[in-house]
Amino acid sequence: MSTVHVFDHPLITHKLSLMRDKNTGPKEFRELLNEISMLMAYEVTRDLPLEEVEIETPICRTMTKVLQGKKLAIVPILRAGLGMVDGFMSLVPAAKVGHIGLYRDPETLQPVEYYCKLPSDAEEREILLVDPMLATGGSSSAAIGFLKKRGCHNIRLVSLIASPEGVERVQKDHPDVDIFVAGMDSHLNEHGYIVPGLGDAGDRLFGTK
Ligand code: PRP
Ligand code: URA
Repeated sequence: MSTVHVFDHPLITHKLSLMRDKNTGPKEFRELLNEISMLMAYEVTRDLPLEEVEIETPICRTMTKVLQGKKLAIVPILRAGLGMVDGFMSLVPAAKVGHIGLYRDPETLQPVEYYCKLPSDAEEREILLVDPMLATGGSSSAAIGFLKKRGCHNIRLVSLIASPEGVERVQKDHPDVDIFVAGMDSHLNEHGYIVPGLGDAGDRLFGTK
């Protein structure tokens, strides 16, 4: 079974509380998502492998460590996942970015795919799949399924807020995919929204409602 990592860093918790507030407008919402994404990227990449190299400081030659050069790809689920890309890219600027377009049908709550463009060598990369909301888990589970069909086998899911139902669904469908979240909420309401959640992440990010 995969591991669920819940980040309880006070800065993340504080910023997430500001995002939840319905009076927070799109500009501040975007800025906060960007800042939290950066903090989450810092934690998610904690176990990246290092290698020893020899360098010369102004004082002497010395051995030190640098990233081994493991290839990463950031893959946002459109639309709301776009709000997490800049934060991740500011810490791992060499990563490639893929996109998976999915929306959740409001009646059936089933994910509908409309776009998929991944780096040509996606199967060799560690994939950081990003989407602020893990609600029923349908969208994330389908996106992981697409990635696996393309040969990707090293996938981590990073979400801002998850419901227990969403986590359970992804763990059941994809027991090999670790999940990283900033907040684990209580449950889903009858419309499939996370409670207490933050509402519709895409609409709040892009001001479409
Ligand atoms: C939201 C969110 C997730 C999905 C989560 O996207 O960004 O992708 O819902 O719900 P689920 O876990 O029940 O599948 P939405 O479908 O609203 O599309 P948008 O990002 O384009 O607004
Ligand atoms: N999508 C969202 O944007 N918010 C939710 O609470 C559930 C799905």
